Amino acid sequence: MFLRNCWYVAAWDREVTRDLRPVILLGERLVLYRTLAGQPVALEDACVHRKLPLSLGRLKGDQVECGYHGMIYSADGRCTHAPGCKRIPSIAKVRSYPVVSRYGLVWIWMGDPAQADPKDIFLVEHWDDPAWGRNLGDSMTLACNYLLVTDNLLDPSHVAWVHRTSFGNEACEESAIETTESPAGITAWRWMRNVEVAPFYVSFVRFTGRCDRLQHYEVCYPSHAIIKAVFVPAGAGETLGANHPEAMLMDSYNLMTPVDENHTRYFWFQLRNFSPGDMALSKAMDDGVRAAFAEDQVVLEAVQQGFQRTRTRNIDLPIDRPQLMFRKRLAQLIAAENPQAWSAPTESLSGLQDRSSPG
Ligand SMILES: [Fe+2]
Repeated sequence: MFLRNCWYVAAWDREVTRDLRPVILLGERLVLYRTLAGQPVALEDACVHRKLPLSLGRLKGDQVECGYHGMIYSADGRCTHAPGCKRIPSIAKVRSYPVVSRYGLVWIWMGDPAQADPKDIFLVEHWDDPAWGRNLGDSMTLACNYLLVTDNLLDPSHVAWVHRTSFGNEACEESAIETTESPAGITAWRWMRNVEVAPFYVSFVRFTGRCDRLQHYEVCYPSHAIIKAVFVPAGAGETLGANHPEAMLMDSYNLMTPVDENHTRYFWFQLRNFSPGDMALSKAMDDGVRAAFAEDQVVLEAVQQGFQRTRTRNIDLPIDRPQLMFRKRLAQLIAAENPQAWSAPTESLSGLQDRSSPG
């Protein structure tokens, strides 16, 4: 089950080109491309005539020609040419999805097009802040349900065991986790006092010795996470927190798009409050994050398999509270939607059989 009246990431901007790109999002097959003027386009990937994926056809200017019988569709999904038809029936159209380029990503609205408002796209604070650095980011497809990824990103404790050589260390094993709820999502967070700096962050902090560390794990509906890391000299967390002049701040954006119930496309990038122009540092951060997220991939795909195979009862722990709150609220939001209200049927095409007489 997926929330539909919201923005998801469809692809990196750099992946949407003048080639037809098939993707599966929320169980639906779509084709992505870019118009000659540079606008991204997302259409249902199935010709209205015989359902051949349009991605197997070709671009003609800003239109797509089906590779089976040459039906042509404009970027808004309307069929503009059908062989043997003088009059194109109005129902001869494929679904067109609202798309917006922002933050180097193409965002897509999978629900009621009338409700799509770009101001609702997940906010990336500091994106254009010249004092902050940004790494390129990356993506992967995980063979697991997207809610296992949101679980993971509401779980600051897992770094103690999954990321022992990067994000975590022993200090992360037992510190208590707080939970905060807002209309947008759930935050699991904790300050860890007077602890060692975890390995991934050692080369980035501006001070020596032990630290106070904030883990802020916030996931917003439907499946967008910002993980804020704050490192300050030990003792400073209580008073100045992230406002300490030597504070090392890293905001990690984790944007998940369900491919289907069992697969998730996971996009990420990080922003930092230091070394904005340091490309070598950005590369090191990209490499380190990719290696750590590969550790998550191993665990989450195995957890998916574990749940599919299990014959025994699953239990929850107190540390699971943020995840359970998130799942419960998201389920309520999904249940409150009424997809029948906006999804137009595309199966009934009797109009196309109304062929004009030859000659
Ligand atoms: Fe992780």
